[in-house]
Amino acid sequence: MTKARILALATTAALSSLLLGCAADGQAPNALSAGSPVAAVETAAVATPATIDNFMLADTDYMGHELYRSGAKAIVIITQSNGCPIVRNLSPALKALKAKYEGQGVEFLMLNSAIQDSRDAVAKEKADYGFDIPILMDPNQLVGEQLGVTRTAEFFVIDPKTWKITYRGPLDDRLDYGSQKATAEHTWAADAIEATLAGRQAMAANKMSPGCLVDFPNRKVAKISYSKEVAPILEKKCAACHTEGGIGPFAMSSYEMVKGFSPMIREVLRTDRMPPWNVDPHVGKFADDKSLTPTEIKTVVHWIEQGAPRDGTTDPMAVAAKKRVVQEFPLGKPDLILALPTYKVPASGVVDYQRPIVVNPLTEGKWVKASTYVVNQRQAVHHFLSGYLKDIPADGKGNESRWGASMGGYAVGAESTLWPKNVGTYLPPGGAIGFQAHYTPFGKDVVDASKIGLYFYKDGEKPGLVMRNSVVVDNTIVIPPGEARHKETAYLNVPKDMLLYSAFPHAHYRGYASDFWVEYPDGTKKLLLTMPRYDFNWQREYSFAEPLKIPAGSKLIAHYWYDNSKQNPANPDASKTIVWGDQSWEEMFYTAIRYRWTEETSAKLTNYDQLMDETRLLAMFDDNLDGKIQKAELKGELGDKLSPYFAQMDQDKSGTIENAELMAALKVMGGRRRDQAQQAPAPAPAAPAPKAGGGR
Ligand code: HEC
Repeated sequence: MTKARILALATTAALSSLLLGCAADGQAPNALSAGSPVAAVETAAVATPATIDNFMLADTDYMGHELYRSGAKAIVIITQSNGCPIVRNLSPALKALKAKYEGQGVEFLMLNSAIQDSRDAVAKEKADYGFDIPILMDPNQLVGEQLGVTRTAEFFVIDPKTWKITYRGPLDDRLDYGSQKATAEHTWAADAIEATLAGRQAMAANKMSPGCLVDFPNRKVAKISYSKEVAPILEKKCAACHTEGGIGPFAMSSYEMVKGFSPMIREVLRTDRMPPWNVDPHVGKFADDKSLTPTEIKTVVHWIEQGAPRDGTTDPMAVAAKKRVVQEFPLGKPDLILALPTYKVPASGVVDYQRPIVVNPLTEGKWVKASTYVVNQRQAVHHFLSGYLKDIPADGKGNESRWGASMGGYAVGAESTLWPKNVGTYLPPGGAIGFQAHYTPFGKDVVDASKIGLYFYKDGEKPGLVMRNSVVVDNTIVIPPGEARHKETAYLNVPKDMLLYSAFPHAHYRGYASDFWVEYPDGTKKLLLTMPRYDFNWQREYSFAEPLKIPAGSKLIAHYWYDNSKQNPANPDASKTIVWGDQSWEEMFYTAIRYRWTEETSAKLTNYDQLMDETRLLAMFDDNLDGKIQKAELKGELGDKLSPYFAQMDQDKSGTIENAELMAALKVMGGRRRDQAQQAPAPAPAAPAPKAGGGR
């Protein structure tokens, strides 16, 4: 059915039957069409809660929205589902409402809890009907259930001071079953917004709203079993950290502990704060996925909403807690153990990232096949990352902008990094290994003395294939003060066929969201990973379940969104323009990748990393991905330096800078650039190519 036809229909008496049926675009009519209006009134009688609970949902663009982080003076949530004519009919009225109130600090969100609607279908509906309000996807229906949603086109007006729902009902009285007025007599939703802004009580609080019914199959679920259903989930997905002496602040060591923390457990699942696994589950398949499945989330949350009842005579959490032992080196005795410098973690406060180094004692190069961290103070260590440093840094700092090949990282539950069979990373003799260490105070002074164990391919069993790492990095970022969703873009041109094993997005306190795409040589694009909400506290590598084939001529594209507003609770200063820097109050755009060049063997090393680096700088500036630099794209410290010479750099007078022109200009600037490189972080912290024959 075309848009024009829907609108035409909606403005005639046929509206009433459409409203009741809600069958459009060939979609199956929902519950109401089969029933009667009487049934509708009954179903609509789900009570409205007094307040709305916090949640984090991603919208159709995979941008995360945490309700309680909103800085709005009033929030309006409108329920939506695809193919519902009354929602479509609302589009112009919603635009007008938004235009009137957005400037007064009112935030508008739509909520899709319809299980039949895919994210892509909703994105299309949003575009087709011109909704300029984020549509939040609620695939687990937890938000819709808590709000007591029964229909679409319902308006919930919320007061963020108290999270009270000040109004629930239709926009106004213009549309009703079987009739439609030219203008509204009662503008209930707008009145409620005015009242909420003014701190008054709304005149009408709860009105039956005409709209399409939404199916909530789990609204009433049978009694869920703690011992058979809930405990196994918590044991598998939470207890590695929430154990005695673990990093989690409480141990899930018994029913009583779980019950006591159950309201918090519900909250962290609804806000997607736990477990720490920040990629969206709908994009990509990852090895060692730590997230909960939708069924697991619903099981735990519904069990808690049932009052977290106990059953069974034995307590599986208590039994498992007694058996849990942490093995020091689960992969066996390492070939080399390196002790990280000890670090005194204070009882409270914020510890900035530490960048210790350990001098490499090897006198001959080795091929690494695995590494394991033995974390000494498990409660205090959030993560370790590592990278080879060719030269021992004079300042003793192992900053990641200087790193070459990675020796693996640590995140709780991921102590070991195992290279795939027959694949290794070359660790040359000499130099040092730099670490990034994130310590978090937990209420007690402790001294951490962690170590890393490295496993090498033995003499004579050198791996056939070479793991490499590089970074999609952008040190030209400029983040304006106060901006809540500032976007930056950078990419890498992939010069030869590549197998991509993992990606690891990294930003600092202002990082809000990030994603990672491949654009194939034919111009089609695929989203490989997305983080609707980036969490600085949790750094980890996301390994693809199967390595991805990236053909020569592709682009690997990363986007980051930064929240430099006051609403960002981690923002140290919302009044500053932020540029690239190592310190956490500066920013990074740094998606680390691990990959192999398909053609490369350890017997025949390639220079493909160098080829990839040749267009790296251009790809940092080139925000519109057209392969050249427009003047406006010259940003950041280096961009500001180059900008005055734009006309001179543009040798062929094409109005844009191509890579050859950029390289030529940098050559001319050579001397000056070398000076600068000593102050600023190197643009390309790529893996140094292992020297041919250096492996063995
Ligand atoms: C990788 C380790 C890890 C895993 C796995 C993990 N947690 Fe946590 N959890 C933590 C840490 C550390 C904190 C302290 C807050 C922080 O640092 O984010 C925490 C805090 C919490 C809190 C307290 C509220 C808060 O945000 O401080 C709850 C509740 C919780 N976790 C529940 C869970 C549940 C439920 C699971 C499994 C579904 C889980 N956690 C899995 C490490 C973990």
